This record gives sequence, C-alpha cells and structure tokens, in this order.
Amino acid sequence: MKDIEIRLTSDGSKTLYLPSLDETYHSNHGAIQEAKHVFIEHGLKHVHEFGMEKIRIFEMGFGTGLNALLTAQWAMENQQHMEYIGIELHPVDKEIWQQMDYVQSSEDVALYERIMSCEWESTQEINAFFKLKKIAQDVTQVALSDRVDLIYFDAFGPRAQIEMWDLPVLQKMHELLNDGGIFVTYCAQGQMKRHLKSLGFEITSLPGPPGKREMTRAKKLM
Ligand SMILES: C[S@@+](CC[C@H](N)C(=O)[O-])C[C@H]1O[C@@H](n2cnc3c(N)ncnc32)[C@H](O)[C@@H]1O
Repeated sequence: MKDIEIRLTSDGSKTLYLPSLDETYHSNHGAIQEAKHVFIEHGLKHVHEFGMEKIRIFEMGFGTGLNALLTAQWAMENQQHMEYIGIELHPVDKEIWQQMDYVQSSEDVALYERIMSCEWESTQEINAFFKLKKIAQDVTQVALSDRVDLIYFDAFGPRAQIEMWDLPVLQKMHELLNDGGIFVTYCAQGQMKRHLKSLGFEITSLPGPPGKREMTRAKKLM
C-alpha cells in the first residue's frame, strides 16, 4: 500500500496511519499497550484457562503482525501450542514492517521476521509452539472452514469500515468459532453488542486499554 504513514503512539511503540480512512492501526495511546490489554490479557489468557492442549486463533486484520508476534512470544513463554490464522486484505510492505521496531532482542527480531516473511496461504511452523497461516483475502468474501477457539477481531473502527461490524461479518465470525469459543475486540459499540447478542453470544464488557473506557469479549453459547 502506497498511502501509509508510520506514527509514534504514547507508549513509544509505532503504528500505521492510513490518510485515506483517517484511521490508525492501533490506539494512539499505545499500540503495544492496547494489543497486550485487549488480545493477550482479556482474550488469550482467558482461553488459556480452559486448559486446551492447542488453542486455535483467528485474527481479523493481521496488519503489522503485532498481535501475532505477542501471541507467539506468549506461546513460547507458556509452552502452549497454538495455530494462528491471520487474514489481511492489504499485506503491509516489507519496507514498512521492518521499521516498526516492536522488539529489540535478536531472538525476538528473528521471530518477527519469520512471522512477517513466511509464505502466505499455507501453514508455517514459526517455532515449536506456534504455527501460522496468513491469508491475503477479503474477510467479507472468503469461505472460512476450520473452526477456532478464539477470534481477535481487530478491524478498523465502525466509523471507517462499518461493514466489518455489521451482521454478515459478525455472523461469519460466529460460525467460525467452536461452541464456547471467544470473540474479543477493542470495540464497545452498542450496535455491535446487540448484533453479537442476537447471534447467540454472551457479552462481557471489560475495562478498555488506556484512553478507552470499555472493550468487549463475547462467548459463543453452546
Ligand atoms: C486495525 S488494523 C489491524 C491492526 C493489526 N492487527 C496490527 O496489529 O497491525 C485493520 C486491518 O484490517 C485490514 N482489512 C481491512 N479490510 C479488510 C478485509 N475486508 N478483509 C481482510 N482484512 C481487512 C486492514 O488492511 C488492516 O490491516
């Protein structure tokens, strides 16, 4: 993508800004802080408590790969096997992701490189605990088959991309989840929560990351 800018957020980590949508990829209050709070603390750790041998995760909006990176690090630290599927309509160019500087140690830099450079459309073994399949497709068009235990729903906000938060996409996410599976997002929009409820989710509103009052976690009822 040509029209994209790298911006610094308040916790010192970088994000991307798309002038065409007037939208950033993460919270301006802190990209890493937000990703850890929403997806790791309130998504992954919650599902880990279920005690599954392997956790299957789907990410809507792979973007810079930050959520995949944090999840892969967590998988190693906690010796938790995971399969991660990330969908992204506009893969971020190498010259851009190489400037994100999300990690410093040579080991973590190598991990991020593997995540970002590995082949698309097929499952790749990133390390002993983390397998990754990146799909370069449009979530509104693609047929998704293999079910997952956890969805990181990291689309651009409703103001920029309302179709992501509307019933057809949310229904697709519902169908993709195993019974009892978890959908987690930074978003707290009332209409989205009503849609999720109508699809058969149980909604939990949780405190949001800095700069945001609430976020949403939803469980697919059996
Ligand atoms: C909020 S950003 C995701 C941030 C990302 N998780 C990260 O950590 O960098 C939303 C992402 O959704 C992608 N996207 C937008 N429309 C899409 C679609 N129809 N299908 C798949 N991905 C889409 C955008 O290109 C963007 O990368």
